[in-house]
Amino acid sequence: MNLKYRLLVFLLILGFQFSIAQHNIIPVPVNYEKSNGSFVFQDEIKFKTGNKEIKSLKSTQLFQNYLTNLGISSSFDKKAKGNFISIDLNKKKNSAIGKEGYILEVNDKSIALKANDPAGIFNGLQTLKQLIPIVNSRTIEIQSCKIVDYPRFAWRGLMLDVSRHFFTVDEIKSYLDKMSAYKFNVFHWHLTDDQGWRIEIKSYPKLTEVGAWRVERNGTFGEGRAAPKEGEKATYGGFYSQEQIKDIVRYAADRNITIVPEIDVPGHSMAVLAAYPELSVQKESKYVSPGNKFSEWYGDGTFKMLIENTLNPIDENVYDFIDKVFTEVAQLFPGDYIHMGGDEAYHGYWDENPEVQKFMKKHKIKNSHELQSYFVKRVEKIISSKGKKMIGWDEILEGGLADGAAVMSWRGMKGGIEAAKMGHEVVMTPTTYAYLDYMQGDVTVENKIYASLSLEKTYKFEPVPDEIEAKYVLGGQGNLWTEAVPTLQFAYYMTYPRAFAIAETLWSQKKDKNWDDFVRRTEENMIRFDREGDNIAKAVFDPIVTVYKNDDVVMCKLENNIPGTEIYYSIDNTYPVKFAKKYTDPFMIPAGNLKLHTQTFREGKPIGHELIINREDLVKRIKK
Ligand code: ACM
Repeated sequence: MNLKYRLLVFLLILGFQFSIAQHNIIPVPVNYEKSNGSFVFQDEIKFKTGNKEIKSLKSTQLFQNYLTNLGISSSFDKKAKGNFISIDLNKKKNSAIGKEGYILEVNDKSIALKANDPAGIFNGLQTLKQLIPIVNSRTIEIQSCKIVDYPRFAWRGLMLDVSRHFFTVDEIKSYLDKMSAYKFNVFHWHLTDDQGWRIEIKSYPKLTEVGAWRVERNGTFGEGRAAPKEGEKATYGGFYSQEQIKDIVRYAADRNITIVPEIDVPGHSMAVLAAYPELSVQKESKYVSPGNKFSEWYGDGTFKMLIENTLNPIDENVYDFIDKVFTEVAQLFPGDYIHMGGDEAYHGYWDENPEVQKFMKKHKIKNSHELQSYFVKRVEKIISSKGKKMIGWDEILEGGLADGAAVMSWRGMKGGIEAAKMGHEVVMTPTTYAYLDYMQGDVTVENKIYASLSLEKTYKFEPVPDEIEAKYVLGGQGNLWTEAVPTLQFAYYMTYPRAFAIAETLWSQKKDKNWDDFVRRTEENMIRFDREGDNIAKAVFDPIVTVYKNDDVVMCKLENNIPGTEIYYSIDNTYPVKFAKKYTDPFMIPAGNLKLHTQTFREGKPIGHELIINREDLVKRIKK
């Protein structure tokens, strides 16, 4: 064979292999083998099963509803010969796929889904939904294939903060629907914080009568929001009744999601103290924070609370309160874990209080970290007495970790590493890879927050650091704090597509992660969001603008991480940029009253935003 011919054969083989791997599933399955042919159906489909319970499984019914929305009617028919979907639980367990895994086979006559457990059936049906192409045609054609799939981690979570903004029962259900489609199985529900207490506790009614409501303020949290005025009515807020919580817990369970409720103590408790000020050290009356400034942050992680928001760790009434609250919480949530927060508890009011100091001396507690540790250990005993395991943010390591506590590492991975080395379970959720409240694109087009986290960086998240044993890492999660997220659709915008990246990190095999292929599948799933009328960020398409100085010359670099795109720009105030310059190399930003216009294109069509940045703002981006 001459060289040219050999090259052609090589390219053909490469192309063939690529087509084998081609599908749009997120998270990428462990094994996908494409085969010849396809399963075609139109208007109607039959289901078949060898297990009676399959028909009554919620996951099967949900899949049937999904088909109905596509205009396809479905019914069970044990005599169906061709053109059916069979769903079966393995009579003999297949140890290769565990509880949540499944095997899905598509050929030209039938689709067969098998799993060991209903959780696997649920996950397999999520994959099957993604195998149905996005077409506006009554004929549906699914490529023949065999998929063997199971998760890498048991804890695949998303956290939603419902205190800073309240989300209704229906909104929570929608959020659960979306996350379950990408095989997340833990919903960490941040139910309490300074800005609102959101769970009905029958033994402390004022928690919701008072603590769930704040005066209404708009605009960004912090300096711009005024404190409540004397006598001003608290009108913004809401809470979930215990009946509503039971309903949501069931709804989640039907979607293979366990809820981990978080009651954040001893800090982040201003809403508790608005209802029961006697549980603080100062016992002064408080209000539920409307997001006004009440703390000062010093840039190194230290801070001062200008208004007391911590529970009193030396007061037995506080432990009585915690016992009663966690009794009710434990009864409502059937999952193994209860989250007790523990983060960012300000110790200043403890340090300044003579009673607290006397108590510390008496009990040989050397400093406020040890005092918090004393508190956390008591909370751990309370939670374990309810038959639950305690998990808390990584501050619970400070002053000594409670036996049996699991740690949620958020200030990087170091807390998780330290806890795992001591033999504790950990969940990795570092700000650097998993904080979904951070901006995902250019500050000029995003809702401005103090930090950024791109989709590509999120995709690089690896929950098991080299220095610890993988068995201690339960998994990870993305966290959506909602100071700047007032609506469900904006919650989707902040969550997706970064949650796709997190889902893939937590479900898929590490070796199968591939950025370029992930982007291709992400784009397909963006179309699914668009079709459902839901918001998803497309910031990943936007140019990444870097400004630096070369001697005294201001230079600008443009890039993005999407294969097959071109970036166009102008610095002469002309637009649209399509008619300006195609970016090749860093260019000079001359002096003058000018703006950079820039946008990414694919095949001549703009994708993503046009960024427009004044010279003055460009210069501010130069790193000192
Ligand atoms: C946190 O972000 N305060 C856990």
